[in-house]
Amino acid sequence: MAKLQSTLQWLKIKEGRSIDSHYRVQRNSLLSVLVCLFTIFPFSRSIQLDGLQFCAYGESESCGSSSTTTKLLIKGGTVVNAHHQEVADVYVEDGIIVSVQPNINVGDDVTVLDATGKYVMPGGIDPHTHLAMEFMGTETIDDFFSGQAAALAGGTTMHIDFVIPVNGSLTAGFEAYTKKAKKSCMDYGYHMAITKWDEDVAREMEIMVQKRGINSFKFFLAYKGSLMITDDLLLQGLKKCKSLGALAMVHAENGDAVAEGQNRMIDLGITGPEGHALSRPPVLEGEATARAVRLAGFVNVPLYVVHVMSVDAMEEIAKAQKSGQKVIGEPVVSGLVLDDSWLWNPDFTIAAKYVMSPPIRKSGHDKALQAALSRGVLQLVGTDHCTFNSTQKALGTDDFRKIPNGVNGIEERMHLVWETMVESGQISVTDYVRITSTECARIFNIYPRKGAILAGSDADIIILNPNSSFEITAATHHSRSDTNVYEGRKGKGKVEVTIAGGKVVWEGGALKVQPGWGKYIEMAPFSYLFNGIERADATYLSSLNAPVRRFKAAT
Ligand code: URP
Ligand code: ZN
Ligand code: ZN
Repeated sequence: MAKLQSTLQWLKIKEGRSIDSHYRVQRNSLLSVLVCLFTIFPFSRSIQLDGLQFCAYGESESCGSSSTTTKLLIKGGTVVNAHHQEVADVYVEDGIIVSVQPNINVGDDVTVLDATGKYVMPGGIDPHTHLAMEFMGTETIDDFFSGQAAALAGGTTMHIDFVIPVNGSLTAGFEAYTKKAKKSCMDYGYHMAITKWDEDVAREMEIMVQKRGINSFKFFLAYKGSLMITDDLLLQGLKKCKSLGALAMVHAENGDAVAEGQNRMIDLGITGPEGHALSRPPVLEGEATARAVRLAGFVNVPLYVVHVMSVDAMEEIAKAQKSGQKVIGEPVVSGLVLDDSWLWNPDFTIAAKYVMSPPIRKSGHDKALQAALSRGVLQLVGTDHCTFNSTQKALGTDDFRKIPNGVNGIEERMHLVWETMVESGQISVTDYVRITSTECARIFNIYPRKGAILAGSDADIIILNPNSSFEITAATHHSRSDTNVYEGRKGKGKVEVTIAGGKVVWEGGALKVQPGWGKYIEMAPFSYLFNGIERADATYLSSLNAPVRRFKAAT
């Protein structure tokens, strides 16, 4: 045991916040071995790694503090749901909320958390993450353990990750992600990307929906030569989604035009990170959004536009919604609070960390997206957490096209949305719950198990103190990345306690998590977005006045 701990200590020192991928590979393989060892030989001690406290398997009650008890009472806070808030106590047993009402009395065997003067809200649900994703010649630095640990420290208790098929096979992709997710410490679900089209893929989509708990598929209109699909494939995919009751999601950028824009920049000698933004301007996002929205309208199927980064895309969504189309728009935190000026920073390491797609836009788009979020044109906030450290970003030192695309956000989302939207007065606290948790649960059909503080819901709960403050820095964040795109941001409103599955996992600035605690959450098809689709189809058919019966002229 002592040897094991000194090995872990060595790994911790070696990793620190260093960017040396050699050590990281060694550390990751050793960590996998250790996770296996814990499974085979449970022992009763807690260990520390990455500055986190892990509870070893087999000691769920005693590790860390009594706060891992299965009975909890959260006392005297303002309990906030998407449609209502009231001062009440919340009683939790065995991972489930049992009761929400004022003045609940309990026995001595219950851990009591005082939430007086604080908000008690559903844990955040991040609809858009990429943990352990192989992408652009490397793999995201946060896996299902480190990414989720970071999420919990920031008040997010569930996320939905994108399974990438293996050589187009959805089954192989699902199996690969099942292995990656074994080390999960919080609940998670999956969307699945569709990267090619044939009868096998169509059949596998049925299996994913009917047997594997996936109810959404993402179509990439960008990343030419890798993930990008054609309009023909998108049409087939939309039709299939409609028949399965699955939600179609799009990454909306015109990939052909992006490739053209990239060549233009290289020809102009613009090879640095600013070339990323210049090569894929908002008009290409607007065009692809308009196209996807119109094709979804043509098929009469709901559409979810991921990472809406520009006014151009947002306005296409607003227009479609005005005409009665069911289109969901998801902004991400980076698009809401950052602008593209960072990409012009003379320090490559700083500039490269802001490279993501669609790009972070010029100042002005951020404010317009915030306004659209407060008006309900955009409905929920994701992160697109897709982290690469500075060594990985350096793959594109001489050519911006090779900089792995992606930024962090899973740990920062709840704080930054509070600061930007609630503290600024743009939305109410109930709206905050809706856009960070409840609406995601409704769209992906897991409400009210998730996204609510109601008797019977999962005990995924945060306590947010509106009077304490947060500060973001790579030196103290829980992601494995050595950089943070929100470096130095400060604000009011801090998640002081996170409860996931009825366990207090974040309290007093300390994380207590264990690989294997997270559950895979199956999501059923035919969410509320599908209500009325059949009737609309029937109305359409009866409006055709066709086929016209024609009499053949007598000969
Ligand atoms: O830059 C990004 N967004 N990376 C992740 C992949 C995607 O497009 O969502
Ligand atoms: Zn995307
Ligand atoms: Zn993404």
